[in-house]
Formats: sequence, structure tokens, C-alpha cells
Amino acid sequence: MGMTLRTSGFADIPAGTEAFPCSTNSVNFRLFILFLLAAFMPLIAAADIQLPPVPAPAIAPPATGVPASPEPPMEIRRAIAVGETAPVAAPSVTKIVFTRCAVPAPVIAITFDDGPNPDHTPRLLEMLKVRNIKATFFMVGRCVVTWPHLVKRMVEEGHEVANHSWSHPLLTSLGNTSLDSQIQRTHDAIIKACGIAPRHYRPPYGAIGMSQRKYIHEHFGYSTILWDVDPLDWKTPRNSKKVQERILANTKSGSIILTHDIHGSTVDAMPATLDALTARGYQFATVSQLIELERETASTVVATAPAPVPLTPEPTIPVVPMSTLPPETVAPAQPAKAVGLGE
Ligand code: NI
Repeated sequence: MGMTLRTSGFADIPAGTEAFPCSTNSVNFRLFILFLLAAFMPLIAAADIQLPPVPAPAIAPPATGVPASPEPPMEIRRAIAVGETAPVAAPSVTKIVFTRCAVPAPVIAITFDDGPNPDHTPRLLEMLKVRNIKATFFMVGRCVVTWPHLVKRMVEEGHEVANHSWSHPLLTSLGNTSLDSQIQRTHDAIIKACGIAPRHYRPPYGAIGMSQRKYIHEHFGYSTILWDVDPLDWKTPRNSKKVQERILANTKSGSIILTHDIHGSTVDAMPATLDALTARGYQFATVSQLIELERETASTVVATAPAPVPLTPEPTIPVVPMSTLPPETVAPAQPAKAVGLGE
């Protein structure tokens, strides 16, 4: 998406030339063209959503426990999508949990959990590359140290890397020492693999206590990223067509879509799913880009709003009993010496 309108060509044509003779008629014609441009500019702008560039790979800050990766440069020309109105809310700079973002345009984030996976992640990356779609990968630390070249490739190709714990435990069952270890080891492994410090994490099974998410935000600077679209791609029997149908049925502007790149059926569903979402007018953003779009939107709206509106309370995240957890699997890490790492 993105239309570029060039008007500078008028200035490039010297007046009085044969191609553009200087006469009253031609002046009127130019005024008429300028009138048309002014009249249709809002429509053109509505189709022009420029997402911020994903931060270029950089030397990551030392793993001190409180990473300080900078905010990505923001230069968003946004527009109100047809049929949608901008939300009125206070700036959400203090919001640390996201299930979906309030954005005024058809922008979404697709996320892939539990990888990287040596069989399915590479072909997924190819699918994303040919479509110029940027995604966010919530990775398990022990897979990161086993296949670090895939993490490096994600960053090189413009995707966002994020933390999904070291070994995919139920974080609500852990004390702070174990919780620290799960997050810190993965944080360090991602930096070692690609040179970028993650800015977000997703708790396995979406299960995280209220005090834990605050603790993780304070100690690691992470936002908690959940989801509003779950195609149940981990459930057996796995079915690519159903994954596609569920995503298409539930995605809306600002959605955060949960999927897993450890399942071949999920990756098989992606070409048709991504193409259908694109055909519906959705633009893909990384999670950081989507959050930034919400924050900028909220700031802009509040600045012009006649009266403040109370914040919507954040949803309570249920603690999932272990017995009801889905049979989500994580690819076992290979022995460290097989990949030459000292883990
Ligand atoms: Ni997971």
C-alpha cells in the first residue's frame, strides 16, 4: 500500500515552452488541476499508511537486566479507515499489557511462537520475504541457542524478535528467581544470536500473574504481549484450512494474531492466509510498530479531544490450571556441543 503523488512536476516545466505554453488557458488548466488535487487529497492520504521502519540491527546494550533498546523511529502518516473512528483514550504510555491495539487504520501484527524451528521457520521466512511482510517471533531460549542463525536471519529480514521464556514453563508456577532465569537467559541468548535486545515477551499459554507482569516490566522493560486472534493451530488434528478460516474470521484492525511456526500445518496455511488478509486491505506491522501506532493515535486524539475519557480497565488474565493447558510442544534443543555453543 502506498500512493505517491508528485506535484513538483509543474515547477519542473518552464513556462512559455512549447510543451507547456504560458497562456491564460494553460494557467486556468493548472488551477483546475490544483483544485482537483486539493479536492481528492484526503482520499489519497487515506490510502497512504507508512509504518515506521523496523530498527536496523545494532549493537545490543549489555544484558544488565533492564534492556534499553530505543523506541523505533516513528514517522507514520495515518488515516481513518472507512467505517472506523479513532478511539478516544488517554495516552497509553503506561500500558504494559496488550491483547490488541486501538489503531485508526487496518494495521495488524502476526506473531509466531515457540521457534525457531529448523524445518518450518526457514520456509516461513521465505513466504514473508516474497510478500514484504514483517512479523514478530516470540522465541524459546533453548531453541534460540540451538538455531541462532535463524534468529539472525529474522532480524536481517526486518522482523521483530521477542522473548517466550527459556523452556516454555507455566510462569505462574514459578518464584521470582526462576522467573528471572527464564526471561534473562532467553534475553541474553537472543542478543547473542542477533545483536538486538527484545522489547517484549509473551508468557507461555498466556498465563501470567498481575504482579509478575509488573515485575517483568520493571526488571526487563518488557511489555506483556497476548493476542486477540487464536486460530488454535496447536490443536490436533492440525488443519491448515481451519487455521486460515479462523484467522480470517476474527482479524480486525489492530489485531494481534497468535500462531506457531513449529507446526508445518500452520506454515502451510500462511500463503493463502497472508494473501487474503492483504486482499482485505490489512497492512502488517511488527508488534512494536502496532503499539507505537496506538500510542501516537491516543496522544493525538487526547490532544484534540474536548474532555478526557477514563481508560478502559485492562482485562484480567486468568491463571490457567496445569491440567487444562493445551498440549503445546516445544522442539527439544539439540545437545549444545552439536552446534558449537557453550550452553
Ligand atoms: Ni508457546
